[in-house]
Amino acid sequence: MADTEVGGKLIKAGEKVVMWYVSGNRDESVIDNADAFIIDRERPRHHLSFGFGIHRCVGNRLAELQLRIVWEEVLKRFPRIDVVGEPRRVHSSFVKGYETLPVIIPARA
Ligand code: HEM
Repeated sequence: MADTEVGGKLIKAGEKVVMWYVSGNRDESVIDNADAFIIDRERPRHHLSFGFGIHRCVGNRLAELQLRIVWEEVLKRFPRIDVVGEPRRVHSSFVKGYETLPVIIPARA
């Protein structure tokens, strides 16, 4: 509605903006070594994957529980899964998902 500045960039009245939560997850000014996958980070919950503020995902704890159970059950059956190619990513500014990811599941001895 009016000219404004966000992160040092001028946004003129009437211009469109898009919000990328996942881009916030790579913000080096807030998260150390933001591009690295560090599973034992000091503050692992400090991310924006479930949004932020009043619209923060109400299902986030359920989603985490479902993911834990999915991986517990998958790994019980297939303890080793080798990634053998690049993922095809979902074309979206909101969901940073994979459409496909080629893997090999070796036969168990
Ligand atoms: C890994 C799984 C999930 C991810 C990554 C995710 C991500 C998000 C994100 C980023 C938002 C914020 C949207 C915004 O800012 O407008 C959101 C909102 C929401 N999520 Fe999730 N979500 C997940 C699973 C779920 C589940 C399992 C449920 C329900 C059982 C759920 C219900 C909702 C609802 C109702 C909102 C809207 C909240 C509001 O606008 O007040 N989500 N989710």
